[in-house]
Amino acid sequence: MNSDNEIIKLIESHRSVRKFSDRKVEEGILREILSKSQYASTSSFLQLYSVIRVKNSDNRKKIAYLAGEQEYIESASEFLIYLADLNRIEKIALNYDIKVETGYAESFITATVDASLYAQNVILAAESLGIGGVFIGGIRNNPSEISKLLKLPKSVYPIFGMCLGYPENDIRQEKKLRLPLDIILKEDYYSNHDQELLSEYDEKIKKYYVKRTNGKVEDTWTEQVSKRMDGENRPHMKEYIENQGLNNK
Ligand SMILES: Cc1cc2nc3c(=O)[nH]c(=O)nc-3n(C[C@H](O)[C@H](O)[C@H](O)COP(=O)(O)O)c2cc1C
Repeated sequence: MNSDNEIIKLIESHRSVRKFSDRKVEEGILREILSKSQYASTSSFLQLYSVIRVKNSDNRKKIAYLAGEQEYIESASEFLIYLADLNRIEKIALNYDIKVETGYAESFITATVDASLYAQNVILAAESLGIGGVFIGGIRNNPSEISKLLKLPKSVYPIFGMCLGYPENDIRQEKKLRLPLDIILKEDYYSNHDQELLSEYDEKIKKYYVKRTNGKVEDTWTEQVSKRMDGENRPHMKEYIENQGLNNK
């Protein structure tokens, strides 16, 4: 099979970018990326998402701090926050005397998936134009504060942010290899992963970290992700989401 086309090469060349040059993303280019990315598939044509472009520099600074002191939120040309948005449909339906019940887990999933598909299109479209970026889940460290800053109404929640900008010089590091396909691809039924394949992957990731950090980090992938998932994982999110009137049914 010939998989040597530009789009497949682009998908494969993705790396998160966290160091940006001073060059701003041109207004027209940004709007082009953001509008064309809307052609992502969307569940039942509902388009249950919005995106906030954070221009206010004080807010950028506060968000950078709230997200765990991620400085690149301030230095990137653009910082976007993707919202699962059930508020818009609530308002629209009132015109038809329909009171939309937004609290269903299903609606929460639908809106989150819609926004995520859109965001992935945005980062790919940006990368196709030489712009780099990184998703910022760190905004969920402090969702209530972020909501206040962004004046979010009920039935909306911030899923993640995204920095976009022209990469500083050619900062493209070696790419982070993903799991072997045969670990994530299963046929017909769920099956457990092949331990040998995983061990081979572990060795490759360990080498990647040793090289990238000059020997300071030598975690395998399994070690790293096990530690990452140990203990609490933003337990405040449950209450926050429910307070927004989402995912409570
Ligand atoms: C939903 C989501 C949230 C993320 N949040 C952060 C973040 O807060 N800070 C950060 O530096 N990277 C963040 N990342 C980037 C991941 O760390 C990165 O995609 C992963 O390590 C793989 O590296 P790569 O994108 O360079 O291939 C996030 C990625 C996703 C998809």
